[in-house]
Amino acid sequence: MLELTPRQIVAQLDRHIIGQDQAKKAVAIAVRNRWRRRQLDPELAREIAPKNIIMLGPTGVGKTEIARRLAGLVNAPFLKVESSKYTEVGYHGRDVESMIRDLLDLAISKVRREQAEKVKEIAEARTEERLIDLLLGRTPGPGKSKGWVRSEESTVGAPATPVAIATEAAESSEEGPRDASRELMRKKLRAGELDERTLEVSVAEHSAMPMLGGMGPDQMDPGMQEMLSSLMPSKQKLRSVSVREAQRILLEEETEKLLDREKVIEEAIERTEQTGLIFLDEIDKLALPSDGSRSGADVSRQGVQRDLLPIVEGSSVTTRHGVVNTDHILFIAAGAFHNVSVSDLMPELQGRFPIRVELSGLTAADFARILTEPDNAILEQQQALLGVEGLEVAYEDAAIAAMAELAATANAQLQNIGARRLMTIVERVFEEINFEAPELKAKGETSLTVTETLVRERIAPLLEDGDVSKFVL
Ligand SMILES: Nc1ncnc2c1ncn2[C@@H]1O[C@H](COP(=O)(O)OP(=O)(O)OP(=O)(O)O)[C@@H](O)[C@H]1O
Ligand SMILES: [Mg+2]
Repeated sequence: MLELTPRQIVAQLDRHIIGQDQAKKAVAIAVRNRWRRRQLDPELAREIAPKNIIMLGPTGVGKTEIARRLAGLVNAPFLKVESSKYTEVGYHGRDVESMIRDLLDLAISKVRREQAEKVKEIAEARTEERLIDLLLGRTPGPGKSKGWVRSEESTVGAPATPVAIATEAAESSEEGPRDASRELMRKKLRAGELDERTLEVSVAEHSAMPMLGGMGPDQMDPGMQEMLSSLMPSKQKLRSVSVREAQRILLEEETEKLLDREKVIEEAIERTEQTGLIFLDEIDKLALPSDGSRSGADVSRQGVQRDLLPIVEGSSVTTRHGVVNTDHILFIAAGAFHNVSVSDLMPELQGRFPIRVELSGLTAADFARILTEPDNAILEQQQALLGVEGLEVAYEDAAIAAMAELAATANAQLQNIGARRLMTIVERVFEEINFEAPELKAKGETSLTVTETLVRERIAPLLEDGDVSKFVL
């Protein structure tokens, strides 16, 4: 994939997020810098530490959305974690490191998918030969194999429903893999004519990892985990499946045989270390209020900050696939920082996030744009849903402006929940229409314009009594 320039990254983010230019720029630069560093002489590259970012801003203004969209853009292992999850009961100590293991797991499946794509043709060809054998009721014996080998992991059983042409052409079938019955079967298989037929395939079943003293495999020492899984027997089980399903299972097996597992892991570790990106959402939940009050929860938060520090600073994390060095992993943190500030985080941790970007609160004008401009914007989604009912929905400009303005008012009067308020407003506006849509069609009404009057009628009364509307808007 071509590496995106900062401008291209921002342009992509612009398709989904309105405003917040500073934050978009910061993440775009950070991502580009990772690529720049990789072009350098390894000796110099080693010295360049990532410049981690904290995004600050009120709730519902696009912090998580930026990360989510960025994830879709970058061709790098990307993990989003809720920082607060590590403060929950049951998590302790080194579990913060599990984020690195999760990141590596993501990288492994990505590399594996890429490699699988490269061997796809060969794997598909081998799968086809095996399927034909199965359909013809031929179990390739060890001595009889012609061009293909009996697989270790899977043996082939007789077809559950014997295929007619198998017997028909049985006499001539010993000539070789390219005899007439094979070719006929191949033709039928390729045409999809056999998709619904049933076959028996033997599949390996690994029993689930046992829980040890309440510890799941995740909390276990990696070495221990490895040892345990090698002790777990993998059972061969004969399963009756459709040809299509058999194809999937066999393709999986053939692909696995063609892949070099060690290379996949090596490459995945390399990518994790050099291009890995972790989004630490809700990092403010780890900050301790500066008023000096300390509770049990604070102790746990401080603990998580302390555990996070070495990972962000750069250290080696042991995983069951090998050691991952975190020196160059990029961290982007985000938080609303409502009642706490960045300075309520441990100084060492603050120091590892030198770039701070503030996301601004959203105005009525922003809301109007959010309703209409992003790809698949909220109002467009509404139109599409009602379009299914045969109802063509249009919006008066003034209606859109009114929804935006009422959202801003609701945020000011009730509670500021940012752009999330738009969802509740739009739902309210469309409540009756959504309910009645099928009957409207029956009555011959095929189009509907959302007017300013309609919007105000639906929403304004809810804003008159602040106490009550808290529960309805
Ligand atoms: N600037 C924006 N442009 C378009 N949509 C937005 C914008 N800000 C927020 N939204 C939408 O509002 C919803 C909430 O946004 P998001 O999850 O990014 O909030 P947040 O800033 O992470 O808030 P919190 O601090 O509560 O986690 C999402 O559905 C998102 O698409
Ligand atoms: Mg968020």
